[in-house]
Amino acid sequence: MVLVRITQLSCLLVLLACHKKIATGYHPVFSGKSAAMPMTSRRRFFTKIVAGGAGVLGGGGLVERAEAEGEEGGGDFEAIKAKAAELSSRAADLKTTERNAASGSAGASIENYGGGFSIYDFNVTIAGKEVTMKEVLGVKEEDVEVSVENIVEEVDAESGEKISKTVKESKTEKKEVKPKAVLFVNIKQDDPMARKNIPQLISLAAKHGNEGLVVVCIPTDQGYYEPDTSALLRLKVASEYGYGINPATVLTDKLNLLGSGAHPMMRWMESTSRTPAGLGRIELNFEKFLVDGNTGLPVRRYPRKYQPLDIEDDINSLLNNKILPPARANFLEEWREAQREADISEYAFKKGLNYYDQ
Ligand SMILES: *[C@@H]1O[C@H](CO)[C@@H](O)[C@H](O)[C@H]1NC(C)=O
Repeated sequence: MVLVRITQLSCLLVLLACHKKIATGYHPVFSGKSAAMPMTSRRRFFTKIVAGGAGVLGGGGLVERAEAEGEEGGGDFEAIKAKAAELSSRAADLKTTERNAASGSAGASIENYGGGFSIYDFNVTIAGKEVTMKEVLGVKEEDVEVSVENIVEEVDAESGEKISKTVKESKTEKKEVKPKAVLFVNIKQDDPMARKNIPQLISLAAKHGNEGLVVVCIPTDQGYYEPDTSALLRLKVASEYGYGINPATVLTDKLNLLGSGAHPMMRWMESTSRTPAGLGRIELNFEKFLVDGNTGLPVRRYPRKYQPLDIEDDINSLLNNKILPPARANFLEEWREAQREADISEYAFKKGLNYYDQ
């Protein structure tokens, strides 16, 4: 009789082997060069392999056992090591977010950044229909072909000899493919800034859309007068600029940005990613928020006069799973300029003078 047993060490090796394979096979829509596998997928896969062996072992999964043994203070060394590896890779994922947040958002507190929310928790209205941000950003489940190598140890019951064998298997995994970077811009069609900004936004989307960038433009009734309906705006930006033709260029219906009726996503984004002066609320048209698509958290906010093409380095960092470079030399000055402009500009959101909080 032959007893088949998957050792715990081999599970770990399998995990590492699979990790590599998934990482290279991950790209259907947003093909990133160094795509990091999201934690959920890694963990799910981990559990799955162990579950595969569990039938043979007749015992619970490795993670569950590691937890149980951890509580008892007992010690299966390999299980604890695997658990530690899992925790540290989760910590590494968080570190990128935190460092992005810290390097990108002035005065961002790293603890509880975003208050437990991400852009994926919100819905917006597009062409009169409420849609989830996951739909808006084209997040979808993809089948990913995964090759698994199980190292199986066989023990001959009679001789007691151990033999190691490699058993190859092919599996299909479901994986959520998210964009890597999302740039939100509050636009106003009649503002002369539109003629400079919208073509630049389109060119960023054309260049980086298939690498995982999505641009989301948000018109509003608040602030400087916007006479057109959302439907007419959609037609105008499409016919004048070609905005909305590339699926990486999204236009929401008009949303409120400020006051008691502010859209929950915008209120959350503004208070999460503040100006260098610590201001939450948007003051001018064409402020921009760059969001890490993987975590769904805003990482940097740019003033009105900061041109979309000036954001390309930051976008590239997210596309390559890197932390943001320091802001450009003109970043703080542009924010100070925005503050001055907010007092005098007709493109500013001012209480009493326009639709802000009425
Ligand atoms: C978003 O819309 C979906 C249906 O498409 C709904 O189930 C969900 O509750 C909505 N979420 C919010 C925050 O309104």
